[in-house]
Amino acid sequence: DSFASVMLGLGSYAPELRLTNEELCQRIDTSDEWIVSRTGIRERRIASADETTSDLALSAARDALADAEVASEEIDLVVVATITPDMAFPSTACRLQHKLGLRNVCCFDLEAACSGFVYALDVADGLLRSGRYRKALVVGAEKLSSIIDWEDRSTCVLFGDGAGAVVLGLDGEGPRLEGFLCGADGANPSLLCQPAGGADKPASEETLRHREHFLKMNGREIFKNAVRVMEYAGRTLLDRHGLTPEDIDHVIPHQANARIVEGLSQRLSMPIEKFYCNLEKYGNTSAASIPLAMDEARQAGLFKPDELGLLVAFGAGLTWASALIRF
Ligand code: COA
Repeated sequence: DSFASVMLGLGSYAPELRLTNEELCQRIDTSDEWIVSRTGIRERRIASADETTSDLALSAARDALADAEVASEEIDLVVVATITPDMAFPSTACRLQHKLGLRNVCCFDLEAACSGFVYALDVADGLLRSGRYRKALVVGAEKLSSIIDWEDRSTCVLFGDGAGAVVLGLDGEGPRLEGFLCGADGANPSLLCQPAGGADKPASEETLRHREHFLKMNGREIFKNAVRVMEYAGRTLLDRHGLTPEDIDHVIPHQANARIVEGLSQRLSMPIEKFYCNLEKYGNTSAASIPLAMDEARQAGLFKPDELGLLVAFGAGLTWASALIRF
């Protein structure tokens, strides 16, 4: 398909403060051994009190614009994938627009949890192809530390803060987006959710007392679904394009858990060496995880021209998404 969006530039940002497993052991009843053996995570980054999601997004966006050598005024579409917006409204994309000094452009947030960045790429690609926009800034940014229950050892060890961004255009040099699959199953929202603070359970003294403004998760069920659904998202997209797992050179999976990635590698019969992982340094950064991993892998010189990459994500919703990239 000669009419495909091109990633003109990539960028990422991770806050400076590192929170190691050892440091977590001083706060809660856990161990480095438990966290590393169950998840592969060794440390995560935590944004400072005055650094919010739009600030993380801003740093990643500036990095991507510089990489693309695109002036911010050329951007006419801003999409931010996040589950930790600065506020419920206005959107984090509007705040990012202002911080970038952009005027009059289309800005919105997209919420598909950990699949959000791949969803946002798909949506932006479609809007560019429609001819209504020329250059898009697509960002995945999260300050998950703001919704983590630091007293819940089953979740607080898993997540971190960060951001990643791409500049998309229809012509120019760069990796090409060759196909997408996005899907969802809303049957079991309570598997992974933030129960209170929305229209279903507005903030009240009772919701605060029950700590319902924090992320809640059924880890075991999410784990099983993650492996199954990521295999489905990867395999179905490959089938649609007449490809097999052998055709893929690199997989950039959502960075939730090393055991989920190993399970996916087995179920797709793809060697683990093809999977890029940096989750030991960042934990799960939700919508930021794939662009953060992709930017690091690219800076490490992993992607060679004409190689084929597969992005594959899974998240609350449940949502899933995959994308094919020709480098
Ligand atoms: N440190 C020490 N022990 C812990 C712990 C921690 N941080 N967190 C939980 N435990 C304990 C539990 O209390 C439980 O103890 P019990 O058997 O006495 O009740 C025990 O460890 C085993 O818990 P279990 O939930 O069975 O562990 P698990 O092997 O399923 O691993 C997760 C837990 C969370 C790591 C795993 O389920 C997981 O990764 N799920 C997917 C999470 C995810 O990626 N979510 C985001 C998707 S986008």
